[in-house]
Amino acid sequence: MEITLSKTISKSMSIGRQASTPVFLIKDEDRIDRHEFFKFLSVEDKKYLINFQKNFPVKKEHSHPLVLPSGLKVLVIGIGEKAKFNNRRAIMAARRVVAIARRERIRDLAVNFNDFVAKDNRENQKLLAEVLATQFQMANYEFVKYKTPQAEGWSFVQTIDVLVLKQNGLAEALKAGEIIGEEINNARNLSNTPGGDMTPQVLASEAVEIGRKWGVKVTVLDENALAGLKMGGILGVGKGSSERPKFILMEYLKGPRGEKPVVLVGKGVTFDTGGLNLKPDNSIYEMHMDMSGGSAVMHAIAALARLKVNKNIVGLVPAVENMPSGSSYHPGDVLTTMNGKTIEVLNTDAEGRIILADALEYAKKCKPRLVVDVATLTGSAMSALGQRASAIFSTSEKVQERFVETGEAVGDFVWPLPLWEEYEEDIKGTFGDVANMGKNRYGGAISGAIFLWQFIKPNNGETAIPWVHIDMAPRTTPAESEFLSKGSTGAPVGLLTEFLKKF
Ligand code: BES
Ligand code: MN
Ligand code: ZN
Repeated sequence: MEITLSKTISKSMSIGRQASTPVFLIKDEDRIDRHEFFKFLSVEDKKYLINFQKNFPVKKEHSHPLVLPSGLKVLVIGIGEKAKFNNRRAIMAARRVVAIARRERIRDLAVNFNDFVAKDNRENQKLLAEVLATQFQMANYEFVKYKTPQAEGWSFVQTIDVLVLKQNGLAEALKAGEIIGEEINNARNLSNTPGGDMTPQVLASEAVEIGRKWGVKVTVLDENALAGLKMGGILGVGKGSSERPKFILMEYLKGPRGEKPVVLVGKGVTFDTGGLNLKPDNSIYEMHMDMSGGSAVMHAIAALARLKVNKNIVGLVPAVENMPSGSSYHPGDVLTTMNGKTIEVLNTDAEGRIILADALEYAKKCKPRLVVDVATLTGSAMSALGQRASAIFSTSEKVQERFVETGEAVGDFVWPLPLWEEYEEDIKGTFGDVANMGKNRYGGAISGAIFLWQFIKPNNGETAIPWVHIDMAPRTTPAESEFLSKGSTGAPVGLLTEFLKKF
């Protein structure tokens, strides 16, 4: 999809092969004859639309694809009360416009930038332009790779022209948003790929491909290298699968020389059966998406490279398949991680934290100024937050706040849960240093975070590294009614990219 900016109404409505379909976003109080696109219409068409609004007040849930007397197609979409319109609603409106266009098989759209401006986003219209372009891309995505095309072909929007009358300098922001949207969708492609086709090896080659395309140094460590590094966590979880574990290392070092890097760590479990603690059948089928943290890290780095951000960023993705077999790790096994700490495996289904333990230790070795890990870690995070926000934990309140705010701005939401040392009691091991799950079924997302903390915490004499943990299990797939297609959401590529651009 191509997103372009135009400064005049006539131009914005006549791009594409035929005339683009103008979109009238209408708030309850809005009169359609005050809309920017209205001026461009013929006298008859104007009369028709005024009459239309008289007979059909355009309310929040309403959308009307109309053919005007001149033959021009328009979309009239209600977005509710003016007083309640805000950035969150603007984001949903952007997705909804594309969703409706796809349903109506409309290929070319013209939208009015001002329709999306609200009291809480008007200060930073560059960011709004970027966010809109990203949201258009996200809504224009569907995973159809494995399906025979419909006879008429798939319905995707080809062009969106954004009319910007008053602001300058938004073209670049739209372009940036387009790139971020593309990388979000690329992450979704990886996550949506069935487990049989997305192995640790394949995930690693995708990273190599990103490196080749965008100038990122990518190294893939195999089992022998992992053994050399004494990464007993990753090797332990990987034991049960005939697909061998990999450790993906991405280095994008375009920041000032000597500036400490930000290290991103992503859980790359390409399929999570639960291992010998096999998952029940209703919760196993989506587990090909258990590498979504990894794909998010990979494609956030791709986005940052494409945006030529001048920062030092390292990505680490431990990639394994968690399978039950004669060679699997067992409940009760005690694994020794890279830093020497031992993990008592109470449940082989709490595998993500085990592989991340080794990755976090590796992250420490990069002397980072911040470590952010992203993982589909716990069902508990979903119980706590539903499907609309990932859980965020941090050792730095300031950094956490920045994440929450950035998420709010770009529509990639995170919400905090506590990281209190008292919770450490819950994961004390009996026969190992730490147990890989809590003593009871309560607060599982916190147990997971507290577990990871043990591997990034300073040991005696070391200085603390600011750390953020994002349990993205809630955002693996979208909630209904948020105008995203089934499968992966691509979270938190948008959040990471926007955060790191400025951090
Ligand atoms: N990958 C799962 C968590 C998950 C669940 C992600 C649902 C997305 C949707 C993780 O490896 C897991 O199995 N976690 C267990 C931990 C428990 C055994 C302590 C869980 O949450 O039940
Ligand atoms: Mn699991
Ligand atoms: Zn898992």
